[in-house]
Amino acid sequence: MRGLIVAGNWKMNGNQQFVDDMLFSLNKVEFSESVEVIVFPPSVYLHAARQQAKTVKVGAQNIFFESSGAYTGEISPSMLSDIDCRYVILGHSERRAIFSEDDDLIAKKVVASIENDLVPILCVGETLEDRESGRFFEVIARQVKIGLSLLQAEQVARVIVAYEPVWAIGTGKTASPLQAQEVHGLIRRLVAELVGEQISESISILYGGSVNAANAKELFSQPDIDGGLVGGASLKVDEFLAICSAAA
Ligand code: G3P
Repeated sequence: MRGLIVAGNWKMNGNQQFVDDMLFSLNKVEFSESVEVIVFPPSVYLHAARQQAKTVKVGAQNIFFESSGAYTGEISPSMLSDIDCRYVILGHSERRAIFSEDDDLIAKKVVASIENDLVPILCVGETLEDRESGRFFEVIARQVKIGLSLLQAEQVARVIVAYEPVWAIGTGKTASPLQAQEVHGLIRRLVAELVGEQISESISILYGGSVNAANAKELFSQPDIDGGLVGGASLKVDEFLAICSAAA
């Protein structure tokens, strides 16, 4: 039985005081054993957050795939392992759209994270144009297949996938539970075709895109939705805790 995961993607928000205050609040909470809570601060605050975190795990919002070298501004997977931040969001739609990350680059980052004992959260999701044109299954299938293409079957078991419809991110227009479940079911079937049913049934598939305290419980009650990748609502501790409670 898959546990539920609630991941808070803070994006490019906050400061040291915010990190201190948020972790002070989260450290006071005894989360249900059935829920894994992970926060993703901006990279400059990762070490401080990891030092303070007691009840939640800490991850990065991105990495490069090389282990070291002349890559100004980047952080390597081994640097995350070095500070015991074991999770990393990869292929977020904002990285794809703003920083021109393509599926092949994301695939290199996924395998590099696995090779450094990290847990990648591979983000996939269609644009409003893809959905309205009916092409969204094709888009999601390509992103999943290429994103996992450099992994051995047993390595896929370590990947978390996040379905984040671009049209639902930051818009307040959450996918309906049925819309989300439809795509999550596709993703699980795709992974089963790639590496078999046993691994496919074992991986967690998170939904992201305007998750909040009001819609979390119904979303998380869907058979193939194993939690949420939360943006805006993760910056408000009470709302984030309400989402974590909805997962319990
Ligand atoms: O990675 C999570 C993020 O893209 C979702 O953002 O603000 O719609 O919850 P938001």
